[in-house]
Amino acid sequence: MQKAIQVKNLCYKYQKDEEELTAIYDMSFDVYEGEFLAIIGHNGSGKSTLAKLLNGIIKPSSGDVLVYEMNTKDEDKIWDIRQKAGIVFQNPDNQIVATIVEEDVAFGPENLGVEQKEIRKRVDEALETVKMSQYKDRKPHQLSGGQKQRIAIAGILAMQPKCIIFDEATAMLDPSGRDEVLSCIRHLNKENKTTILYITHYMEEIVDADRIIVLNKGEIAMQGTPKEIFSQVEPLQQLQLDVPNITKLAYMLKKEGINIPDGVLTVDEMVGCICR
Ligand SMILES: Nc1ncnc2c1ncn2[C@@H]1O[C@H](COP(=O)(O)OP(=O)(O)OP(=O)(O)O)[C@@H](O)[C@H]1O
Ligand SMILES: [Mg+2]
Repeated sequence: MQKAIQVKNLCYKYQKDEEELTAIYDMSFDVYEGEFLAIIGHNGSGKSTLAKLLNGIIKPSSGDVLVYEMNTKDEDKIWDIRQKAGIVFQNPDNQIVATIVEEDVAFGPENLGVEQKEIRKRVDEALETVKMSQYKDRKPHQLSGGQKQRIAIAGILAMQPKCIIFDEATAMLDPSGRDEVLSCIRHLNKENKTTILYITHYMEEIVDADRIIVLNKGEIAMQGTPKEIFSQVEPLQQLQLDVPNITKLAYMLKKEGINIPDGVLTVDEMVGCICR
């Protein structure tokens, strides 16, 4: 499998007045092309710092990040890197720059110097993908949170990235807005084969990820499939992390002596177990 991103012995230190704070310690992992990789961790574990390092918004204090073989320390490559690996943050209001939806989506490719006819095509396609075509002439501030976040995603899509990093992109949305955005992200991963790096505090969102990396105090504490990770209810609790509600229910029933396997992730699996 081709590697989309390579993280090699990555360290990052914030400089605060006289003090140094190490946010990422000697971290190494690869992200494979087409993968849906989830990253979880308690507040302050280094997720956002890592996200910003992955597309070169900040540079490693030591070690390297390679995005499609391009080193984020290489200033000449920084626009190529940002085009290959886009990032969507938590607050959609901070990511929208224009006063009309379609102008906002066009902003990225315009900055990349894409020609007008091609921009038109990309904007239409991106809005179609996030199911927001009918809102193209609207003002972004008249949209709901979920709609605004989908516009922010369209803005990234119009740059045709191979990989998109989402840093708690659904955290400020209500449950229906969260579902809209998440189904759009799953579609990108499954249909367009876009590599997804998905940072979240909502465990239910990542039960069908390909892999989960758990961060703790700037280091990788655990990694594995959702089943492998969520089977470990107590180690996760020690890292101040939860498991999906249905997994917790299965775990508690098992503790009461009921014969249920570890790492039940979905309601359907639970129903299957109980019926048996
Ligand atoms: N600009 C900054 N200056 C100094 N320290 C910072 C800065 N940003 C983050 N930190 C520190 O770096 C560590 C990692 O922060 P980071 O924002 O990456 O965590 P996070 O896992 O994204 O947390 P959250 O779940 O709250 O979003 C924390 O100890 C934090 O206090
Ligand atoms: Mg964060």
